[in-house]
Amino acid sequence: MRDMADFQIPLLALVITMTSTLALAGQSPSSQPTLRQIAGPRLLIGGAIMAADLEDPKVAQLIATELSTVTGGNEFKPDFLQREKGTFTFERADKIIAFAQQHDIKVVGHTLCWHQQTPAWMFQKPDKSPLSREEALDNLKTHIETVMKHFKGKVIGWDVVNEGIADDPKQYIRDTPARRAIGDDIIIQAFKLAHAADPDVELYYNDYNIDAPYKRDRALRLVRDLKAAGVRLDAVGIQGHWLLNSPPASEVDDAITAFAKEGVKVMITEMDVDVLPRKAAGADISATEKAGFDPYKNGIPAGVLQAQGKRYGELFKVFMKHRSDITRITLWGIDDGRSWLNNFPVRGRTNYPMLWDRELHPKPAYEAVRKELLSASTEG
Ligand code: G3I
Repeated sequence: MRDMADFQIPLLALVITMTSTLALAGQSPSSQPTLRQIAGPRLLIGGAIMAADLEDPKVAQLIATELSTVTGGNEFKPDFLQREKGTFTFERADKIIAFAQQHDIKVVGHTLCWHQQTPAWMFQKPDKSPLSREEALDNLKTHIETVMKHFKGKVIGWDVVNEGIADDPKQYIRDTPARRAIGDDIIIQAFKLAHAADPDVELYYNDYNIDAPYKRDRALRLVRDLKAAGVRLDAVGIQGHWLLNSPPASEVDDAITAFAKEGVKVMITEMDVDVLPRKAAGADISATEKAGFDPYKNGIPAGVLQAQGKRYGELFKVFMKHRSDITRITLWGIDDGRSWLNNFPVRGRTNYPMLWDRELHPKPAYEAVRKELLSASTEG
């Protein structure tokens, strides 16, 4: 357990950190400390980025000054790294690594085993029937070993398995091509392979809606099952694709308490606050909705931005309450314009889920987050 004092940064240290970080980013100090400076080294503040984002100097500068960690939104996924069997393509992921190293930013690897963005050959025959367990495990082993060895010492941790629990409360493990080929121990096998490939790196289980009671119990069961199998598990990642009014902050609070009780760290790994009408919560990308309102196409009312700020604030208050158990909070994107939520669950809408607007200006949500981080860093 981390001591509360570890999290606190005396004001002088904050100013020193701020000055040196800004010097590193090659810019003059601004009047107020950035999110990474307020949170300090014990609580990583992150964003999901694409290598292409870094080509825009203003975005690159914002990332370098505000964030202490990044997650590749796509570049570390199996179909980006090994679309063709045996041909590894690391160039785009390496660009993210190089940028991060230049700016003292930690990188999280996302993800080694997922049912989306994974080439079919890994677990299926050409006719889509499952490969044998041996062949599928062999493919997974080669992928995990090659990828983890390439990034050894360059990433702090891996989302070993992403979204491995079923949405149907009556099922436990999600029915995927990997599970059909390997079996119900697919998650355990993936963690074993990952630990063998790099015993020094942190290993995470990452999923959406595991803060919600219907999925939380099975996620807790998974933590216990992984432990019983003697597998390394450093943290559980609660993705945090949330809406303006759901889930209740108390549910998130209870979930963090429950995971921490199992002896794992908790990370908020893909946070955003969707302001558009929606039928289903979470990130079940098969649940696309055919039609939907696009009410803020020509601009968003100030009142909605204030409500979103309040929502970010109440959730960050919960995170700060649990700051001895939460080691990272990552936002799924940087600015509103680039968020995946402009195309989910309805394509082509105008969404506003992030801390920065389309011109990269901080929104009320940014100020709310800053306020909660600041009050936690100055609490006695
Ligand atoms: O790379 C192609 C490009 O060549 C093509 O021109 C373009 C045309 O649509 O598509 C590009 O691929 C897109 C890719 O993002 C890169 O931009 C895919 O269509 C698009 O589906 C893909 O979406 C990603 C999504 O995962 C796919 O599952 C999002 O960017 C990414 O943010 C999102 O991230 C997931 C997490 O990994 C897991 N949790 C949920 C989260 C949101 O869905």
